[in-house]
Amino acid sequence: MSQARSSWNTNLGFLLASIGSAIGLGNIWRFSYMAHEHGGGAFLVPYLAALLVAGIPIMILEYGVGHHQKGSSPLSFVRISRRFEWLGWWMPVVAMFGIMLYYSVIIGWCVNYLIHSFTLAWGPDTQTFFFEDFLQLSDSAATLGGIRLPILFATMLVWLTCWFICFREIHHGIEKASLIFMPVLFLLTIIMVGWTLSLDGAAEAIFGQYLHADWEKINLFAADPEVRAAAGNVWAAAFGQIFFTLSLGFGIMITYASYLPEKTDIAKNAFITCSVNCLYSLIAGFAVFGIVGFMAQSQGVGFEEAIKGGPQLAFVVYPKAISLLPGFNVLFGVIFFTMLVIAGLTSGVSLIEAFTCSLTDKFEWPRRQVATGICLTGFLGSIIFTTRGGLYILDIADHFITNYALVLGGLLECVVIGWILKATVLRNHINRTGIGIHRTWVFFIKYTTPAILLYLLYLSAVGDLTRNYEGYKSSQLLLYGVGWLVLCLAAAFILNAFAWKPEKLKRRHHAGEDDLLV
Ligand code: ALA
Repeated sequence: MSQARSSWNTNLGFLLASIGSAIGLGNIWRFSYMAHEHGGGAFLVPYLAALLVAGIPIMILEYGVGHHQKGSSPLSFVRISRRFEWLGWWMPVVAMFGIMLYYSVIIGWCVNYLIHSFTLAWGPDTQTFFFEDFLQLSDSAATLGGIRLPILFATMLVWLTCWFICFREIHHGIEKASLIFMPVLFLLTIIMVGWTLSLDGAAEAIFGQYLHADWEKINLFAADPEVRAAAGNVWAAAFGQIFFTLSLGFGIMITYASYLPEKTDIAKNAFITCSVNCLYSLIAGFAVFGIVGFMAQSQGVGFEEAIKGGPQLAFVVYPKAISLLPGFNVLFGVIFFTMLVIAGLTSGVSLIEAFTCSLTDKFEWPRRQVATGICLTGFLGSIIFTTRGGLYILDIADHFITNYALVLGGLLECVVIGWILKATVLRNHINRTGIGIHRTWVFFIKYTTPAILLYLLYLSAVGDLTRNYEGYKSSQLLLYGVGWLVLCLAAAFILNAFAWKPEKLKRRHHAGEDDLLV
């Protein structure tokens, strides 16, 4: 006998869990840095375009599919087409083994820095502290150089916390955690943004750098082919960021929506999730640019000199700015790193949940055992990223997973839903749940969104084939980038090979659909 499917206690619980999944480490510093690097205010154009043509339509699609088929992504996809069950596996496998393995380690860094905040342990030279004292970074991706114990222990703590939340049924675990964590996160963010805006130099950086547009960087029609190619990369990065930040292409939103009751409003929930997430990114950008502006002014250096990319923004620039604050430095540091830990955890549990639910749906194993096994395996898999060479592997894996795995997942999702289930059937279902979506959505899912995503995959591939990403050796890119993707694909096909119980495979039909299934 299969068990009744769990469900959310309230729509608010569902929304906070979904928004918690979306708002993560990516919103607080990845977005800000990308905005700066890719043309400041002008980056908002491809970002908002990506939100409109891919983010919102695919969020509606993922919520719609999960609710329509009442299943995790493999269960939903196998019910739609047996030939595409592998795609249903590909997404949560990528979430779990492509992303969560390193995502948990970054949360582990944040836990370490939260502890360091109490003593401002990073001292005056935060760059040396991060790379040499904390990471003890090896010379290259070729040297793993042994495990860093503080990172290993913090990563273990992160997996333990995620396990504690995920092994319970959805309404006891993730829903309760989101109801506590998300209001705290919003409160801390408001304090942080307000505090930052009061600092000298913050306003100049926000208006002069963040909201200042360099249109040439996004000009796809520039006369100079190099400028055009660079602009192409900016557009590709904006789409990758939208997928990552909205947790699309992971199977998470399909899973979360499968726990919704019949009576719900799919489109409204999708709009709320997308809007709150993107608004959060924009507002968090004020805090990040503001603090860099403050730091630049305190040190008498230019903004360009003060800002740094990728992980350095949170772990080099922020600690330096925290030390320079005129007062309450410890409090500021504790708030900032607590924010990162909470944002990371609420996304982390969703990455685990997508895979947990997929396994319990297919094999009908007890949730507790599945969550325990996954968290244990996940922790063991994370160990490679806790080594002295871990940052290099993380950087390569992140680049390939975000730019290829997520975008490809989104593209194939549109094709399967648009053409096999038929987007009209799903639109009809979504419209019966609440506010209606216009029929242009069907056109987007069938033609526009997949065409754009295909073009972006082409742009990424051309970029990667013409120059080695970040100058890494081809063998390292093949091993940790392409190899990682191939392993995820192999895992998806292996899980796909096991048989389902026949009664599970029946596609769920809803009233009024038959005439549309031509
Ligand atoms: N959506 C999550 C983030 O932005 C994964 O970090």
